[in-house]
Amino acid sequence: MLPRCAFSVCHVLMLVLCLSAAEDFDWTKNDHGSFYYGTFPAGFSWGAGSSAYQTEGAWDKDGKGLSIWDVFSHKKGKIQQNETGDSSCEGYYKVKDDVSLMKELKLNHYRFSISWPRLLPTGIKSDHINEKGIQHYDQLIDHLLENKITPIVTLYHWDLPQVLQEKYGGWQNISMVNHFNEFANLCFERFGNRVKYWITFNNPWSVAVEGYETGEHAPGLKLRGTGAYRAAHHIIKAHAKVWHTYDTQWRAKQKGLVGISLSGDWGEPVDISNQKDIEAAERYVQFYLGWFATPIFHGDYPQVMKDFIGRKSVQQGLGTSRLPTFSPQEKSYIKGTCDFLGVGHFTTRYITQKNNPSGRSSSSSYFSDRDLAELVDPRWPDPGSEWLYSVPWGFRRLLNFVKTQYGNPMIYVTENGVSEKMLCTELCDDWRIQYYKDYINEMLKAIKDGVNVKGYTAWSLLDKFEWDEGYSERFGLYYVDFRNKNKPRYPKASVQFYKRVISSNGFPNQREVENWRRKAVETCSSSNQLLAADPLTSHMEMVTEIVVPTVCTLSILLSAIFLMFLLRRRN
Ligand code: NOJ
Repeated sequence: MLPRCAFSVCHVLMLVLCLSAAEDFDWTKNDHGSFYYGTFPAGFSWGAGSSAYQTEGAWDKDGKGLSIWDVFSHKKGKIQQNETGDSSCEGYYKVKDDVSLMKELKLNHYRFSISWPRLLPTGIKSDHINEKGIQHYDQLIDHLLENKITPIVTLYHWDLPQVLQEKYGGWQNISMVNHFNEFANLCFERFGNRVKYWITFNNPWSVAVEGYETGEHAPGLKLRGTGAYRAAHHIIKAHAKVWHTYDTQWRAKQKGLVGISLSGDWGEPVDISNQKDIEAAERYVQFYLGWFATPIFHGDYPQVMKDFIGRKSVQQGLGTSRLPTFSPQEKSYIKGTCDFLGVGHFTTRYITQKNNPSGRSSSSSYFSDRDLAELVDPRWPDPGSEWLYSVPWGFRRLLNFVKTQYGNPMIYVTENGVSEKMLCTELCDDWRIQYYKDYINEMLKAIKDGVNVKGYTAWSLLDKFEWDEGYSERFGLYYVDFRNKNKPRYPKASVQFYKRVISSNGFPNQREVENWRRKAVETCSSSNQLLAADPLTSHMEMVTEIVVPTVCTLSILLSAIFLMFLLRRRN
């Protein structure tokens, strides 16, 4: 824990002095406490998001193949309470219901992902195309468009076909580039007449680090110090290839855009008078968002990653860097493959310099390569997930970082939101209202700074399967009662609040915004009562499941006893 004095007024003042040179960014306006009343540019797009494995359920229905998440979640000990996404929100069967919820919110767009193995059960296009899977997404896209909601479609939100993992080792293998390109091409062919916003990958940082370095996510590999870099290398190449495919084969006809969604926490130096901390904080962001954004915008990895990983690799006695390299041809092929940048952002860390001795190559890791330590301010609110502290001002800084580093690209915020703990069946989520209010306001300030943000996606529409955390963390605007087989949805208070932000396209004035908040919290208490009444019905279903077999068993037993009694009497 940091001493509280580290976050003094002096800290803020020093920050202003040291960083005021940052191009176009007036840090003096970044007064953490002040709220900016104003509206977003006309045409700003408001949305909410989800992903296939987290919400669809129907994991083995209608010809879908297995994904790495189906297999991973079925292994004991990988997910909290050994939960799975087998049925999740049953979103596969609730397209119309869920689009009604979006209409209720008056969303301009909905971000969802396509499950690769639902379309291509083995992952390989030439093996078999599952038409039922295509029909499902056709139905969803059509229904969204009928309701004037723009689909923003992610091609890869982590659910790699299991066959590709088993046959080739998944993203460790370069052959994924072509398989993914074939899958993407199929999506452009079948859906591209209606879908105009494509996201190749969602949060490749997590795929690489949690999938291939720490093993907390599927496929659960722990290839420390090399696995994440290798996976990321192939993902960047796959992204570039898909962008070129769209550019050369589809763009002229379909007139859509292809981007990538990168996630990044903001890293703030602990001591802004200390050059080492400033550099460490910069490194934190470069190893996170910059790892993917720099090749895509500038053609190669951030210099600081090449330097640090390269130096440590030499010290570890390796002949080459653990960070792979791009050839000159690859660099120019990858550079500029982004029509818009998706940004997923949830939280911030304080960063300080910390040397990690290089040691042997077997002890290397992505984390130790960075030579830094992450800290949090104990006063930051953390209502849900352990890692998620509410630090709205970090959002403005990250957006400005993107603007200055990558030439002010067009940005869609593809994920932003906050969770609560599972046991909390509280629909009056005042803290979520606070989080959205403050984060959306910092995004508004960033737009005033000149950052080119075109849309915002609240994460997420529904409570859903939260990866290794199972159902223990709820991010939804709508509460889902997972105990009930029907998976009913209930609006949280934040639905009412977000709806007002959308209809006013921002924050008109203090009186109104406070009114929205008050009203939202008032109306949610009636929904709370509905939910409170629900356990009875769901419990009754469960009892039936127990009662039926019990009655059957009892009847068999009684018949047996009666039969024995008859036989004895005969003898
Ligand atoms: C980012 C992931 O893309 C998303 O699937 C997840 O729900 C959020 N982080 C929250 O953990």
